[in-house]
Amino acid sequence: MSISAIVGAQWGDEGKGRIVDYLAVKADMCIRYQGGDNAGHTVINDNGKFALHIIPSGIFNPNTINIVGAGTVVNFDTMTEELDQIKAAGVTVDNLFIDKRAHIIMPFHQMLDGAEEASKAGEWKIGTTKKGIGPCYSDKAARSGIRAVDILDEDRLITRLEMLLPRKNRELSYFGLPEVKLDDMMALCAKWKSIYGDKIIDMVPLVRKAYTENKDILLEGQLGIMRDLDWGIYPYTTSSNPTAGGTCSGAGISPRRITDIYGVLKAYATSVGGGPFMSEDFGEDGDKLRDLGHEYGATTGRPRRTGWFDAVAADYSCWINGFTGLAITKMDILDTFEKIKVCVAYDIDGEIVKELPETALQEKAKPIYKEFDGWMEDTSNARKWEDLPVKAQEYVTEIGKLVGCPIKFISVGPERDQIIIL
Ligand code: GDP
Ligand code: IMO
Ligand code: MG
Repeated sequence: MSISAIVGAQWGDEGKGRIVDYLAVKADMCIRYQGGDNAGHTVINDNGKFALHIIPSGIFNPNTINIVGAGTVVNFDTMTEELDQIKAAGVTVDNLFIDKRAHIIMPFHQMLDGAEEASKAGEWKIGTTKKGIGPCYSDKAARSGIRAVDILDEDRLITRLEMLLPRKNRELSYFGLPEVKLDDMMALCAKWKSIYGDKIIDMVPLVRKAYTENKDILLEGQLGIMRDLDWGIYPYTTSSNPTAGGTCSGAGISPRRITDIYGVLKAYATSVGGGPFMSEDFGEDGDKLRDLGHEYGATTGRPRRTGWFDAVAADYSCWINGFTGLAITKMDILDTFEKIKVCVAYDIDGEIVKELPETALQEKAKPIYKEFDGWMEDTSNARKWEDLPVKAQEYVTEIGKLVGCPIKFISVGPERDQIIIL
């Protein structure tokens, strides 16, 4: 019996999908606990290559129940596109469910996301995925959102939309956008009900039964701590909590029942969108990391900002999340670097700082690096610790020490079996 959370420990895109895909082979249940189709979780396995946006990465295992949890926001149209791709690869999706409490992303949420971004001045742009995530979670927090359960009941839905739409239309017209019509929204929801009606369920009895039967449950996070609404680089964050705490609220699981919390970290660092990224490398090394690591957004295709492993941010991440183990991914991308840097402190106005400060001070922080000799050998075929070059072992060991957490997985390639278990 285990309840394991897989949490992004940096700025997102750490390889969460890849780790969940590996672990899901033996899991009975996989729950996405927050976020929406802003995610791009790349999974490569015998079924093919997939960029999953809202579907949990356990979907490829017919005996694993996959739940889009209460803490998520769901765009049913993009879910349909995604499911079509998965089904086309011969994978069953009968094992997918959506919790009744999940909030629904409506077309006006996406319109407002784009308009709000466009209205922000240069440096203040978040660089959102424009999927409507922020506006949808805003309605949720304002208690005026539309939940999955609402589309099952026409009378309830019409009342909820009649209260919501006049306000949304005022916001749309403020941005010079066309208003949305009640009839169109009702028709859209009726379409979604016809496709997803049977899949919209109450997740609590399912999860409770799995727990009492000692099943193995995975909790899949979206994004990473640095873009957590409370603990990230606010205001350059998403609108939910990717951190371990978000697993409990998003999946309806008490903190005392969680057995493992795995932090997923790239062996270097990337970030997509605005906000501070202290160890960003604007030079040749940054370009090389982007080229070798194929660091382009799985959702938006945008080039990712690239840089070195930030041990100050990772140490903070480990404290806030309480990791029980780390998964270090993309080790192989460092194979051809003669020198590898790790940020061990910041210089902020001449002061040496070793604890992650909040956003305004991060914006002033200059990285202080410790340099390691690269191992200059191919690691992609390593399958056990002894297969790794000594210098690669030293690098990983040092990361574990700096972060203060045991390393449990080392990923040396994007394919399911390219992993070392410690
Ligand atoms: P996620 O959002 O956290 O699931 O991560 P993404 O899928 O957005 O980004 C991770 C990228 O790195 C994907 O293209 C993966 O296929 C790839 N990847 C994951 N682990 C490894 C690894 O160990 N080595 C290499 N070369 N690629 C990896
Ligand atoms: P996965 O799950 C990387 C970033 C956006 C933006 C900020 C807010 O694949 O790791 P949002 O659309 O959520 O309002 O955007 O967060 N962002 C991501 N960056 N990976 C993601 O997902 C991301 N989801 C959102 O670039 O800066
Ligand atoms: Mg991603």
